[in-house]
Amino acid sequence: MAVRMFRTKVGSFQHHVRGCVAFSTERPKLVTVGIDFGCKNSRVAIIDSLVPHVVDSEIGRFTPSYVTFTQQNSYLPYKWSLQHLDPVGNCVAVGELAKRRMWRQPSDVVYNIKSLIGKQFQDPSVQEMRRRVHFSIIEGPGGEAWVGICGMEFSPVCIATAIFQKLKHIVLMDQFHDELQAVISVPAFFDELQKEHIKSAAHRAGFKLLQLIDEPIAAALSSITTEDGIVVVFGMGAGSYSVTILRVSPDRKIEIRTQFADTSVGGDQFDDKLVDFIGRQILEGHSVDIRGDIYAMKMVAEAVEQAKVELSSKPAVTVSVPSFSTSVPGPVDLNIKISRPLFEKLVKDLLGQIKVKCQSILEDAKVSTEDIKEIVLFGGMTRVPKIQGIICEVFGQNLNTKVNPEEAVVVGSAIQAALILEDEQEISDDMIPLSIGFESSKGIFTKVIPRHSTLPIKRTVKIPTWLDYGERKCIRIFSDGGSIS
Ligand SMILES: Nc1ncnc2c1ncn2[C@@H]1O[C@H](COP(=O)(O)OP(=O)(O)OP(=O)(O)O)[C@@H](O)[C@H]1O
Ligand SMILES: [Mg+2]
Repeated sequence: MAVRMFRTKVGSFQHHVRGCVAFSTERPKLVTVGIDFGCKNSRVAIIDSLVPHVVDSEIGRFTPSYVTFTQQNSYLPYKWSLQHLDPVGNCVAVGELAKRRMWRQPSDVVYNIKSLIGKQFQDPSVQEMRRRVHFSIIEGPGGEAWVGICGMEFSPVCIATAIFQKLKHIVLMDQFHDELQAVISVPAFFDELQKEHIKSAAHRAGFKLLQLIDEPIAAALSSITTEDGIVVVFGMGAGSYSVTILRVSPDRKIEIRTQFADTSVGGDQFDDKLVDFIGRQILEGHSVDIRGDIYAMKMVAEAVEQAKVELSSKPAVTVSVPSFSTSVPGPVDLNIKISRPLFEKLVKDLLGQIKVKCQSILEDAKVSTEDIKEIVLFGGMTRVPKIQGIICEVFGQNLNTKVNPEEAVVVGSAIQAALILEDEQEISDDMIPLSIGFESSKGIFTKVIPRHSTLPIKRTVKIPTWLDYGERKCIRIFSDGGSIS
C-alpha cells in the first residue's frame, strides 16, 4: 500500500474536528476517528485541533477487547459499559466490565476474537487457540470458527461488532456527535476475507468506513520524519509480531519493500513461558499441579502479565497471588521473585526466533543498517528492553520514540482519516497483502500476482488442458493465506 504522509496544512476537513467548531453555534454531525482493533486492547482516536487525541474509556486510554453477555436487569456497575443487544433483553458488556467477569465466570467471557476472524474451525491455529482459552470455540454453520458463551453462539464478526459499538459509545460520550466515520487498522497479514469481516463489523456497529489501513503503515504515519529513505517498522502486541521495511519517497509516499509477520509469537506466548515457570515452582514447592485448575491458572496468568510489564522498567519483580489454589490446604500465598535476566532466560527461544527473522528480512530487503533512517515501534511488547535491544542490534540505533508504541497504530489511523477527508478522496494506490496464484498440480501453488503488487494489476497465464481439445478445466485459486475461490 502506498499512502501519503501527513501534511502540516489540513484544510477542508476542519469542519469535522472538535477544536475547530468549539465556538460555532452549529453542532457538527460527523466525527472522524481512527481505530486500532487489538487482540487484547482496542483504542480509538479523534483529530482534535489538528492533533490526534486518544479518547479515554472508563479505565484509561484503551478498552480491553473482552466481551460478555448479561441480562438487562442484572447489576450495572458501569452503566455505559453495557449496550443493548436484542429485544429479549440481553445486554452485551465490553471492556473492563467483561474482563472483570472472568474472575467469576471465565467461560462466559470472550477475548482474542481478532485471532478468530475469518478462520475455519479446523484451522490448526484455531485448534491451538481452543487449548489456551477459557471460552468455547465451536464450528459455525459454514465450518467457520464461532464462539459459544452464556448459552449462545456468536460469529467473530458479531463479537467484533460489539467491540466497535463500545468504541463508538466511548467517542459519543466524549464528543456528542451523531455519526462516525473511521479508518480502521488491520494486521498486514490479514487476507481479503478477514478484511471483509472487519468491514462488515464496522458497518454493523454504525461506522462509515473510510478505509482499512495496515497496522505498520499506520504506525509509520504516526511519527516518521524521514522524507526520503528506508524506515523499519517493528510491531508486537498480544497476538503476533511483524517486521516491515518501508521506503519513503520524496513525493511523500510510503511503500512496503518487504514484510514478515508471525501469528505464533506475541505477548501471550511470553506470558505462557512465565506461567509454565510458575507452575513448575508451585509443583516443586507445594506438590500441586495447577494446570487443571482454571481459576488458579487465570490468577497466575494475570499476575505474570503484570510482572512482565513491570520488568520493562524494573530489574526484578515479585509475582504475588494470594490464596492461589483451592487444591492447597490452607490459605497459601504465592510469592516468587523474577529478575529481568531470569525472564530473558525463560523466553530465550522466542527472542532467538525474533532475532533470526529480523536478520533475514534485512537480507531479503537488501538494505544495510546505514540505509535505515528511522525505526518505528508499535505494540505494548516493544517496551520489553531485550526486544528493543535486538531491534537496535539488527537494524541500528535510530529508534523513533516520539509516539507511545501502544498508541502508534491508533494515532496513525486517525491521521490517515484526516488525510482522506482533507482531499475528500480515498487513497487510490492500494496493494495486495498476499500473493495470488493457482494450484498447478496437486498441492503445488503457482504464484501469478506477487504480494505487495500495487493495484490495479493484470497478469495473464496460459494453462494447458489435460486432454487435446479439452474445453473445460477446474482451476483452484489461492492466496498465500488460503483458498479464495
Ligand atoms: N510495558 C510493557 N512491557 C512489556 N509488555 C507490555 C508492556 N505494556 C504492554 N505489554 C504487553 O503488550 C501486549 C499488549 O499490547 P497491545 O495492546 O499493543 O496488544 P494488542 O493490540 O491488543 O494485540 P495485537 O496487536 O496483537 O492485536 C500484552 O502482551 C501486554 O502484556
Ligand atoms: Mg495491536
